[in-house]
Amino acid sequence: MAETKYETHEYDVIVIGAGGAGLRAAIEASARGVKTALVCKSLLGKAHTVMAEGGIAAALGNVYPEDNWQVHFRDTLRGGKMLNNWRMAQLHAQEAPARVLELEEWGALFDRTQDGRILQRDFGGHRYARLAHVGDRTGLEMIRTLQQHAVHKGIDVFMECTIIRLLLDGGRIAGAFGYWRESGRFVTFKAKAVVLATGGIGKIWKFTSNSWEYTGDGVTMALDAGADLIDMECYQFHPTGMVWPPSVRGILVTEGVRGDGGTLKNSFGERFMFKYIPEFFRAETAETEEEADRWYTDKKNNRRTPDLLPRDEVARAINSEVKMVRGSPHGGVFLDIASRRDADYIKRRLPSMYHQFKELADVDITKEPMEVGPTAHYMNGGVRVDADTAATAVPGLFAAGEIAGGLHGANRLGGNSLSDLVVFGRRAGLYAAEYAQNLKGTLTVDAGWVEALAQEALEPFQRTGGENPYAIHRDLQETMQSLVGIIRTEGELKKALEELATLKERARRVRVDGNRQYNPSWHLTLDLHSLLTVSEVVTLAALERKESRGGHTRDDYPKPDPEWGRVNIAVRRRHGDITLTPDPLPEMPDELKKLLEER
Ligand code: FUM
Repeated sequence: MAETKYETHEYDVIVIGAGGAGLRAAIEASARGVKTALVCKSLLGKAHTVMAEGGIAAALGNVYPEDNWQVHFRDTLRGGKMLNNWRMAQLHAQEAPARVLELEEWGALFDRTQDGRILQRDFGGHRYARLAHVGDRTGLEMIRTLQQHAVHKGIDVFMECTIIRLLLDGGRIAGAFGYWRESGRFVTFKAKAVVLATGGIGKIWKFTSNSWEYTGDGVTMALDAGADLIDMECYQFHPTGMVWPPSVRGILVTEGVRGDGGTLKNSFGERFMFKYIPEFFRAETAETEEEADRWYTDKKNNRRTPDLLPRDEVARAINSEVKMVRGSPHGGVFLDIASRRDADYIKRRLPSMYHQFKELADVDITKEPMEVGPTAHYMNGGVRVDADTAATAVPGLFAAGEIAGGLHGANRLGGNSLSDLVVFGRRAGLYAAEYAQNLKGTLTVDAGWVEALAQEALEPFQRTGGENPYAIHRDLQETMQSLVGIIRTEGELKKALEELATLKERARRVRVDGNRQYNPSWHLTLDLHSLLTVSEVVTLAALERKESRGGHTRDDYPKPDPEWGRVNIAVRRRHGDITLTPDPLPEMPDELKKLLEER
């Protein structure tokens, strides 16, 4: 590699992103004997993984011995409305139990059954109570465990370092280029392989469970480097985020509340979910309140309440109730656990929810219902990867976790994200290490290209007049929230594209004041490229898919269409332009098709 004038580090594998998938990938790569670094935009441990509160899905069979990987596989595909990559869903269901036991071995303290095994809780769309959990802090415990394990492996960690571009040599990965958030100095990482584990894109919407890091930078870097994206239209709005007070709108309210017996009600006190049971799930779901209550008291069956339908169904139902003016005072609905469970139970099982509502909204959830509504939560689609190896179309580039598409199809089941992170994080680390070990020849990067990237990043300091990046981000979020939200129409999507074109134009004129030392305005300016790119991609893909499926609902095409159900919408950047293609789903083997026929 020709030398650049910037601080440079050299590794076999660098992992970008230090949530569950990044940590697990780094642990694996390092264990395979390659020199590994972990680079993260935020502080280590601050990741969206912690927003998967209610548990990690794995067919351990501890609560329901009849559970097994085949049932988990079937649930995942049904929940994903059959748009899933079957091989990813198979590997995920088969390997999740081993990954949970590994976490336990590494020190994760899961809640226990009476006889001392890992306890499992109910979540939507899972036939059996299947989520291993630590109260309502499962993601946090997982991060703590993986982080402790990783630091003892001697993996180098670079914190508060934002990567802005993947470096290529003749189409192969050669490293990454970024800057230190604190000093604003540029930094180059030379690497034979890169694992992207940067999470999602939630910050393109106004109401989101995602924090400031989730601007779609990894997705955009992959697209710009030549990787394919799939299913970007199928974004997941979690049904229950806080809606009040305004300053905390969007913060997650775990599905564990409903998993532990909480019910959704409208302003008339009606359990409205009974009106919204789709045909697909009718045979498995209680159709009357009496039936649901009977099943609720019979532990074996409490999974069948319609409050625990898959997330896309519940989010749409809440949206309809609010639209029909049957919502709560602040534009949500009510989530009530107080009338089903006693205070001790609630505080023991849902301690974070108890404190969150007490401290942020002055609501005591052991006595009163919560006000909740949908919040942008999770990217069901993402970078297309090979199921077994997590390799993207770019040699040397791997992706795992939320950034990778395929496993969840059109809608992810709650709890499948944490298992996804460890199953495919491990695979990405393993195959990235193997790729680095087998790579022949030396890698070169054009130092002139790196210099041009640096100058481009500094340009906003030189502009006079110009736009404020915060105003552009605010306007982008308004556009996406109002025109590319849960329910979409052709007219609104086209309007969104026009507005995005204007925002892109404005972004070219952004001016940044001050200097490079910890300058959040500059950081956001650099993030605008990815925020605008992923917004455009989501909108274009949503316009292309003329049906409703999972997280993608078109008011003008309200039903699923079998033809569209056979394709992923693939997004590519070629010669600067974004193109969309309907690509056929991989053919599923007959023995797996048979599993889907069973009830
Ligand atoms: O509701 C939750 O606890 C979130 C879990 C998930 O997104 O998997």
